Amino acid sequence: MSVKGTKTEKNLWLAFAGECQTRSKYLSYSIKAKEEGHDTIAEAFYNTAKDEDIHASEILGYLGAVNNTLSNLKLSVQSEYYEAETLYREFERVARAEGLEDIATFFNHLCEKEAQHQAEFLEMAKELSGEKK
Ligand SMILES: [Fe+2]
Ligand SMILES: [Fe+2]
Repeated sequence: MSVKGTKTEKNLWLAFAGECQTRSKYLSYSIKAKEEGHDTIAEAFYNTAKDEDIHASEILGYLGAVNNTLSNLKLSVQSEYYEAETLYREFERVARAEGLEDIATFFNHLCEKEAQHQAEFLEMAKELSGEKK
């Protein structure tokens, strides 16, 4: 049975966001624990982050959100483009308006990186679909 249009679909997307955030936090916590000389705790955070990553992948599976590679590339081009040209541009503008210049610069840097990701994925999508040899 498909989850399309159900409350569970929304819950799965919320769970996905949570698992991804937790994974990234745990990776950062692992690095901090390592810096502080707590090697066993660093390893625990690292291993738990890997578990959260697996949970996130399982959730994407239930959502049917992983397609073939060409579709995945095309979707990724769109999302990287949106981040680079719309979302982070706006976040940069807001940060600058609020006098948070370092954060504005950071978002500007993200725009450049996401645009680079977009270009790389686009190139691969073209190659894969045979538009370019
Ligand atoms: Fe989890
Ligand atoms: Fe990106």
